[in-house]
Amino acid sequence: MQKLIVANWKMNPISAKEAFSLAKKIDAGIPKKKNIEVVIAPPFPYLECIKYQVSSIKLGAQDVFWEDKGAYTGEVSPTMLKNLGAEYVIVGHSERRRLLNETDEMVNKKVQASMKAGLKVILCVGEPKRATRDMRQGIKEAKSFVKRQLQRDLKGISKSHVANPMSLIVAYEPIWAISAGGAGKPDKPEDAAEMIRFIKQFLTTHYSLLATPVLYGGSVNSSNVRNFLQYEEVDGALVGSASLKHQEFKKIIAAVSSVAYY
Ligand code: PGA
Repeated sequence: MQKLIVANWKMNPISAKEAFSLAKKIDAGIPKKKNIEVVIAPPFPYLECIKYQVSSIKLGAQDVFWEDKGAYTGEVSPTMLKNLGAEYVIVGHSERRRLLNETDEMVNKKVQASMKAGLKVILCVGEPKRATRDMRQGIKEAKSFVKRQLQRDLKGISKSHVANPMSLIVAYEPIWAISAGGAGKPDKPEDAAEMIRFIKQFLTTHYSLLATPVLYGGSVNSSNVRNFLQYEEVDGALVGSASLKHQEFKKIIAAVSSVAYY
């Protein structure tokens, strides 16, 4: 399977000019090998213009609303995103859950509406606190947290909604491992791989989803990305701050491409 690298730019950069220049540089550096897919999720205002600057990268949005149109001040609908050229959408990022009180119920509505509109959903899940993960109890608690999120966020979703394996992607992002707001220390690759195996097993057993890609996110950089991706079950990475530095992101892409098969 292709490996997926998603750049979550968050609320950066500050000007459209910088955004276009960064997108163009990233696009130019994408290897011709077709064993990876690179997605950039810029802030909404840059989406459409970036679309005309790039040829290899795919576009994603960082959020979406669950209604298609109407009196919802400040919101952006799934169909609008599709019309702007977005193929992917990140849903349920921990920063939105924490800072904007986004609940699992809201995340669930966003997942359903985005899938209906034909967007590929990148659903973020992850436990808030670093437990004593070397001890089995810590891993057990983290797994129950993630399981509860998946149950709530995917309520009402069945195999029939997932048109192709890429319609739903899960990003496992332990909140404590995210560089901004967290301790900024990545998860141990073997622990992340274990959680990703658990997520896949859960999706297979409860949703009959046998091939849902699961990414790792949280302080990914060019020196550690290979350690995560060496595990076959890790289908890619969601990259925050390191995706804003062109050279660093280019190295991440090269590293992933070198471990990915066709
Ligand atoms: P980070 O962010 O790579 O800066 O830790 C990841 C994310 O929040 O998606």
